[in-house]
Amino acid sequence: MSDSYSGGPQIVKTAAEMNTWALEALRAGKSIGFVPTMGALHAGHGALIERAVNENAAVVVSIFVNPTQFGPNEDFTRYPRPFEADVKLCADAGVDCIYAPEPAEMYAKDARTWVEVGGLADHLCGLSRPGHFRGVATVVTKLLSIVRPTRAYFGKKDAQQLRIIEVLTRDLNLGVEIVPCEIVREADGLAMSSRNRYLSADERREALVLHRTLKYFEERVASGERDAMKLLGELAEKIEAAQGAEIDYVAIVDAITLEDIAEIKGEVLAALAVKFGTTRLIDNIRVMVG
Ligand code: PAJ
Repeated sequence: MSDSYSGGPQIVKTAAEMNTWALEALRAGKSIGFVPTMGALHAGHGALIERAVNENAAVVVSIFVNPTQFGPNEDFTRYPRPFEADVKLCADAGVDCIYAPEPAEMYAKDARTWVEVGGLADHLCGLSRPGHFRGVATVVTKLLSIVRPTRAYFGKKDAQQLRIIEVLTRDLNLGVEIVPCEIVREADGLAMSSRNRYLSADERREALVLHRTLKYFEERVASGERDAMKLLGELAEKIEAAQGAEIDYVAIVDAITLEDIAEIKGEVLAALAVKFGTTRLIDNIRVMVG
C-alpha cells in the first residue's frame, strides 16, 4: 500500500488499493464506517468522523475535491487543500485509512456514466448550480463502490445532498446505511464550512444572519404561523437587512420531496443560500409540525 503517516491512517491513492483494503477489512469481519469529504476538515467533519469511529470497527475518510461537482465559474481551483492538517485531524480521531485519489485516477478520460436522481436536483442549490448534484451523485456512487462501507456518514448541513444520497442508495440497492449527522456550528451559530475561511471579518460578522433567520423561522412556526409565503417574505427581509448579503435563494420546502409548500405541515425544511462577496454560504433547519 502507499505511504502511511507514522502510526496514523494508511493513505491510499488508487481505487484498486482502496478496494483491496476494504475487502480485507470486510473479510476479517469488520464493519466499515465511511466519511466522504473534500478535505479542509473542520469540527463539522470531525463530528461525522467521531461518530464513524464509535460505530464501526474500521473507518475510512476520503479526501477528494471532486471536479465534476463544480461549475465553470466556481471555486474548484481555489478550494483549500491543507492535506497535512487533514491527515493530522484524521490521525487524532482514530481514522484507519484515508482515500485521497487524484482526479485522473477517479475519472477515466472518456468517462461517460453519470448518476442522476430525478427531480430532487431541480430545487434549491440544483437551480443555481446546474450539474452540481449529478457530480455529487456520481462521485458518491463511485466512492461507495470502491470503499464498500457498512455505514456512510453525511451532514444535515447539506440537506439536499443528504436527501439525494438517501434516495440514490435506496434506488440502486447499494446496501449501505446512510447515517445523517447534526449540523455543527461555531459558538456564535455560524454553520461550520470549509468555505468560511474565504470570509473577511466584516462578512463573517454579517454571515450570522443565516442562523439568526433560521432560528426566527423556528420561533414563528412554534408560535403557530403556518403560511409559508408570509414566512418567506419575512425571512428574505431579515437577510436583506444584513450588509453585503446577496440572496441566492430562501426556500421553505417539504423535507422529503424538496418541493415548495404553501402551508407549514409535516416535515418542513427551511433552506438558505446567501452570497457574501464571492463566498456562497448555505444553511437550513428542519421542523416537524403535527
Ligand atoms: P464536504 O463539503 O467536505 O463535506 C463532507 C461532509 O461533511 C458532508 O456530508 C457535509 O454535509 C458534512 N459537513 C460539512 N460541514 C458540516 C457541518 N457544519 N456540520 C455537519 N456536517 C457537516 O459534501 C461534500 O464535501 C461533497 O459534496 C462530497 C459528499 C464529499 C462529494 O464530493
